Amino acid sequence: MTNIVAESPTRNRSTGKLAVAVTQAKTLKPRPSDDELEFGTVFTDHMFLLDYEEGHGWRDPRIVPYQPFILDPAAAVLHYAQSVFDGLKAFRGSDDTVRIFRAPAHIERLNKSCARLCIPQLDPALVLESFHALLGIDKAWVPRKRGTSVYLRPAVIATEPFLGVRPAKTFSYFLIASPVGAYYAEGINPVKILATDKYVRAVQGGLGAAKTAGNYAASLYAAEDAKKQGFTQVLWLDGVHRKYIDEVGTMNIMVKIGDEVITPPLGGTILAGVTRDSILTLLRDWGIKTAERQISIDEVFEASRNGSLAEMWGTGTAAVVSPVGELGYKDQRITINGGKTGALTRQLYDAIVAIQYGDSNDPHGWTSPVTA
Ligand code: COI
Repeated sequence: MTNIVAESPTRNRSTGKLAVAVTQAKTLKPRPSDDELEFGTVFTDHMFLLDYEEGHGWRDPRIVPYQPFILDPAAAVLHYAQSVFDGLKAFRGSDDTVRIFRAPAHIERLNKSCARLCIPQLDPALVLESFHALLGIDKAWVPRKRGTSVYLRPAVIATEPFLGVRPAKTFSYFLIASPVGAYYAEGINPVKILATDKYVRAVQGGLGAAKTAGNYAASLYAAEDAKKQGFTQVLWLDGVHRKYIDEVGTMNIMVKIGDEVITPPLGGTILAGVTRDSILTLLRDWGIKTAERQISIDEVFEASRNGSLAEMWGTGTAAVVSPVGELGYKDQRITINGGKTGALTRQLYDAIVAIQYGDSNDPHGWTSPVTA
């Protein structure tokens, strides 16, 4: 795997701060009310940009008014999908403080995705600065209502106009911000999912562990197929045996059987979810048994038959925790916890949300206040 390390842009010698040029938007956009917010449909007034050129490294960090890109039609990203992204959230607490949740973990994952896609490494301090600087200038966009937040979307794309297949020599990092409500219309209410052995999301040695555009494009067909059959999302099975559960939709999956919570291991095909890690940490803090191991779809159905299947939920930044109320596989259908949100699912959701909004202690130091 190519691991291109780039130089950092200039820092101010006395303050150590990165020189971010700011161009303020001349007119500000109308902001939706907190009650109107959906997921990812509106964007704040500004965006953060940074460019890379081979031989010069990453340079020219700047905040500009939110605007369309000018991209050469031959840009490598448009043809060969050399691109990565991440997603994290900032929350306004009742004390009016805006807190970013687990920024360093997201930055680390972004750089891992970059390495896998032959994209030069970003300076973590600069990426962190981009989050704080953009949220600082667009702070008024951070909604107040519980269940709402600002979703930050950092991304890197290959901009070089070149149709040969090799890593590009120029890239753009951009950061946009979107005030959001619930990801699924169901909110914290249970969703129906369909396990498929017809399509796979990722295979060993592939891109499954990277947050890259192609994984999401690859998921669309199966998801549409599931929707036609009345399900909200797909439960992905492993690409070799088509037997072990991998992920659900765009989220990690957890199953409570008896008194143990089981989640598939990070074996290279699934994304190292930051919410997955947060939840495993909380479960361990609470003394609940956890196992990171392969679990087959047959084991889940068997647990349903013998009455030990207690709860099942997806975890992700966008939805936090999404309970699974119904599971389909071939011609079988099961209802989990009577189709209702389970007690542990609810407890986990409440605990994470309380930390995110600053309503409870943050023993692991997951949140960082925006001071800009
Ligand atoms: C998440 O669950 O946070 C995701 O990855 C969904 C995102 C692609 C919208």
